[in-house]
Amino acid sequence: MIGGTGFLGTAIVRELARRPASADYCFTLPTRRRERARHLLVLPTVHVVDADVHDAATLDRLMAGQHAVISLVGILKGGEGKPYGKGFARAHVELPQKIAAAAKAAGVRRVLHVSALKAAPDAPSGYLCSKAAGEAALRDAGLDLTLFRPSVIFGPGDSFLTLFARMAKIAPFFPLAGAEARFQPVWVEDVAAAVADSLQRADSIGAAYDLGGPTQYSLRQLVSYAAAISGHPRVVIGLPEAVAWLQAWAMEFIPNGPMTRDNIRSMRVASVCDTGRTLPFGRVATPLEIVAPTYLRS
Ligand SMILES: NC(=O)c1ccc[n+]([C@@H]2O[C@H](COP(=O)([O-])OP(=O)(O)OC[C@H]3O[C@@H](n4cnc5c(N)ncnc54)[C@H](OP(=O)(O)O)[C@@H]3O)[C@@H](O)[C@H]2O)c1
Repeated sequence: MIGGTGFLGTAIVRELARRPASADYCFTLPTRRRERARHLLVLPTVHVVDADVHDAATLDRLMAGQHAVISLVGILKGGEGKPYGKGFARAHVELPQKIAAAAKAAGVRRVLHVSALKAAPDAPSGYLCSKAAGEAALRDAGLDLTLFRPSVIFGPGDSFLTLFARMAKIAPFFPLAGAEARFQPVWVEDVAAAVADSLQRADSIGAAYDLGGPTQYSLRQLVSYAAAISGHPRVVIGLPEAVAWLQAWAMEFIPNGPMTRDNIRSMRVASVCDTGRTLPFGRVATPLEIVAPTYLRS
């Protein structure tokens, strides 16, 4: 599982480990920082290894003897550039190309890849364009591929609602870029279940699934909700585009700043499921209002 040590990867590992059909699977999780994967070291079926997955020889070694690859590496900040910044090119395009080559060489045909809702070659942001290019690289490789395109994912440890709740704690009001941007947040456990289902279903080979929750919201609604439910209700002030742009540009100079200009471009596209279908395999999406209070209140 490449990129498996993060928020979604952890949920997928746990989901697969509790299913009888996959309880005996062993997962190899390469990481750049083993200490960040401490929470996974206790799981008996997980093998966390220090590895640079961008190195082709390392990928070849990791791929040997595997049954399938789950590809999860994704970043929100990849710099500026046309059609995308260097960081996006490396993580979202070149890495899937290398994964495809290593999988083919090792005879690993089954690949599950997590992209993003509304990834498209003509999308307005480097994030979404590069995600589309990564999908295309894997598709062109002719592997037994399944693609997943989630909207924003929520759950304990997310970097979305949790971030808003944290900011509400310290800020008297909320100046918000992209306040009217649309999202359809999907629960991390629902995404993990869809990926786990797919691993065991041959009929998902060749498919691409948009993943969303049951409800669409504006960013303003989500921020207000996270602030209120965490006990710090705040007034949200939508910033005009020019001010939002300037704010995002300034934040790019802060290490781990919460916003970039590319994030603003991504929000120009509604991150919602257009077909009305939110989860595959007959699954019913879990409402945010059932799960979010369990971790935002604490
Ligand atoms: N979370 C969301 O709301 C959301 C929404 C839509 C799509 N997605 C997609 O879902 C996937 C998983 O997201 P997540 O929320 O689980 O991400 P995450 O928690 O940030 O985890 C990212 C994983 O990718 C690895 N990684 C990050 N940058 C890397 C790089 N430059 N080179 C190699 N490895 C790198 C990290 O490994 P280390 O252990 O080495 O740090 C980590 O395992 C991503 O592709 C993301 O784009 C997420």
